[in-house]
Amino acid sequence: MKSRSLFTVIIALFAISVFGFAKDQTKTIANIKAAIIGETTASAKYAAYSQKAKEEGFAKIAVLFEAASKAESIHATNHRAVLEQLGVAMEEFKPEFTVKSTKENLEDAYKGESYEIATMYPEFIKQAQKETVNLALISFNYAYQTEKKHQALYKNAIEQLKANKENSLPSKYMVCQTCGNTYDGEAPARCGISMTPKERFITFGA
Ligand SMILES: [Fe+2]
Ligand SMILES: [Fe+2]
Repeated sequence: MKSRSLFTVIIALFAISVFGFAKDQTKTIANIKAAIIGETTASAKYAAYSQKAKEEGFAKIAVLFEAASKAESIHATNHRAVLEQLGVAMEEFKPEFTVKSTKENLEDAYKGESYEIATMYPEFIKQAQKETVNLALISFNYAYQTEKKHQALYKNAIEQLKANKENSLPSKYMVCQTCGNTYDGEAPARCGISMTPKERFITFGA
């Protein structure tokens, strides 16, 4: 009888530790999934926008979209790795977007980046902190910091295109393979977001 009650106590403690005190990561898991869809869609969209810019004769804007497309695919890959680490499967989905004129595509890209900077990633980061999902925190922060760079690059492209000065835009970009950080022209010796050495950057344009 005595050993039976001890057994009950052990089972109860086990149940409490597993179910009672188990970390609730539900919201962060949903946020990672939303971020995977967002980043995968952005990557596919920017690749299509790059093609459209090429067709319209905006070679330099095409390179910008190409570099940003790679950066978004790095974000998606990072987010997927975090989800996998948490032992959660990702549902199938199909990226949906519309290709318009390069001017409209740039404005759409600027809007997308602005939403991610102002709303999406700050909320996701706050939640990941609350639920202490450290890998999600790292992955969200990599994307958040990069989108700020993208927003500035798109803003500049919109202004130059409006002023009919597409030719004054950078013709080369370097993208960090770790975090997607995007530099116009040469990257520094180490990435300003993830400290990755420049040798591990991918170059777009020349
Ligand atoms: Fe991104
Ligand atoms: Fe971006």
